[in-house]
Amino acid sequence: MVERTLVIVKPDAVERNIATRILSMIEASGLRLVSIKSLRLGKEDAMRFYYVHKDKNFFDSLTTYMSSGKVVVGVFEGEDAIARVRKIMGATDPKKAEEGTIRKLYGLDIEKNSIHGSDSVESAKFEISFFFSEFELD
Ligand code: RTP
Ligand code: MG
Repeated sequence: MVERTLVIVKPDAVERNIATRILSMIEASGLRLVSIKSLRLGKEDAMRFYYVHKDKNFFDSLTTYMSSGKVVVGVFEGEDAIARVRKIMGATDPKKAEEGTIRKLYGLDIEKNSIHGSDSVESAKFEISFFFSEFELD
């Protein structure tokens, strides 16, 4: 199925000037970059975005981190885009991520793991519309 997925290059990676290096790994896999922008989330925006994790013990730390600096958000499209991006990202904890994945290469720790990717069709829908309006998504 042709899908769209939302990617966020997280503050740790933007700060180290590796945002486009990370995004180019996804482009190189054949997925099409539909839209891209850079912005800084407020704490409350980050709380809305990661609402599914509101009851987790890492929620406060995660949302403080995600609002600590600029992020780059992008939408990629292609056959099975959601699972393909998750595979290129690697496991949440960089220590457990497979060789060659973004998190293995660039992640600093389980929180500062350089990239976010949508994990289902439903979350992709919510996350894409969180950041992008219709006319940005042609
Ligand atoms: P993401 O949503 O960012 O793509 O990452 P994910 O699916 O691999 O992991 P998820 O369980 O959804 O967690 C979201 C983000 O929260 C931070 N985290 N910290 N301290 C911890 O134990 C912990 N666990 C997760 C990470 O930044 C993770 O990507
Ligand atoms: Mg997740």
